[in-house]
Amino acid sequence: MFSSSRPSLLAVRGEIVHFIADPAERGAAACEHFPDGLLLVTAGRVLRCGPASALRPGLPADVRLIDYGGKLILPGFVDTHTHYAQTGMIASPGGELSAWLETYVYPAERRFADPAHAAAAAGFFCDELLRNGTTTAMVFATVHPASVDALFAAARARRMRLIVGKALMDRNCPDGLRDADAAEGDAHTRALIGKWHGCERLLYAVTPRFVPTSTPEQLERAGRLFAEIPGLRLQSHLAEQRGEIAWVARLHPEARSYAAIYERHGLLGARAIYAHCIWLDDDDRQCMAARGAAMSFCPTSNLFLGSGLFDLARARAHGLRVGLGSDIGAGTSFSMLQTLNEAYKALQLAGQTLSPEQGFYLATLGGARALYLDEAIGNFAPGREADFIVLDPRATPLLAYRTSRAATLPERLFALMMLGDDRCVTATYLLGEAVRHDAPGSSRQS
Ligand code: GUN
Ligand code: ZN
Repeated sequence: MFSSSRPSLLAVRGEIVHFIADPAERGAAACEHFPDGLLLVTAGRVLRCGPASALRPGLPADVRLIDYGGKLILPGFVDTHTHYAQTGMIASPGGELSAWLETYVYPAERRFADPAHAAAAAGFFCDELLRNGTTTAMVFATVHPASVDALFAAARARRMRLIVGKALMDRNCPDGLRDADAAEGDAHTRALIGKWHGCERLLYAVTPRFVPTSTPEQLERAGRLFAEIPGLRLQSHLAEQRGEIAWVARLHPEARSYAAIYERHGLLGARAIYAHCIWLDDDDRQCMAARGAAMSFCPTSNLFLGSGLFDLARARAHGLRVGLGSDIGAGTSFSMLQTLNEAYKALQLAGQTLSPEQGFYLATLGGARALYLDEAIGNFAPGREADFIVLDPRATPLLAYRTSRAATLPERLFALMMLGDDRCVTATYLLGEAVRHDAPGSSRQS
């Protein structure tokens, strides 16, 4: 079945779980599950996946077979919102947004003017993502172009899929963390796009930090740029805290809502993604859905800062694209498993629930759709980039104990999302190559 003229064929055996649709729409049919499965990879891409019993007999004798018996194989996690420059101040006490930004975030971000500081932080950040099984992320850098260069360089060296942007900030922020004016922010952004956008697996995101830190002229220029260059992404924050909303209303008394300001400047289109989206009304949701903008649900951050509860049911009712975000450093974990744990609890407080299927969908294909990357990543459809992870459902004594009592896949996935973290990530693969590996069971097929 597979010609032996394909020496680079890799066959990964284990329990395969991936999503071909949203379980909230398609129910059980959204999930493909092969209890004893094979994932076939060639030239960095998925060739196909299916039951080992069906695929194994057709494999060439020289196939490289890696056996992860007893472990789960999933697409790599997608983190749709995070800040790499905040890794060093994670777990600084939270609270009111602008006080927290001024006390902890801005002093940490100012240090990213130094390329050596940025390079060290970028390497650590990328390795931490991979250690946690996150293979794609959309990331805020700081206002300094060198901070973007450092992160793209670190991602490229690891062959990761990263979307990064220089924060645009030209008012209401301290010295050393401000574009001289809107024109300078625009010029720096254009230069970075020329250098990095579409380079290997990297994409650029136009990154106005949030309404309070950009003049109307800066928002205007960001909207023009976003419309001008194909494939650009856009990232920002929206409606995170009530005090922030009041501040935005004082700055823009003419605006119907916070989201309406982004809309007016052409910033709410397809390939734009907004973190938080808590204090919205249905007109805002409707407008975002109609324009194609996506939401990043950041539960660890929302609980840590006391921002409020994301309304997943309303987002779904409007057909919005939603992904999960760690939002480091208001978020408290790089782990998408821990992020799912807190997503579940935040939704419980909102009178909603999160099934394990819905949770793992959000962390993989849902995130890829929110980033408009689902033709490249997010599941194991043939031709997708072979970014995948191996999860150990018995990684800790408690998980092993609980998993041994779980009769069904949803029960085991639920235990993983409530009790799991980086300790569960046995291996992370980018384009079919292991970048992190604990005790691999590798062999030639006999
Ligand atoms: N709003 C504007 N900037 C930030 C940030 O860095 N973190 C969070 N959580 N919210 C923001
Ligand atoms: Zn953020």
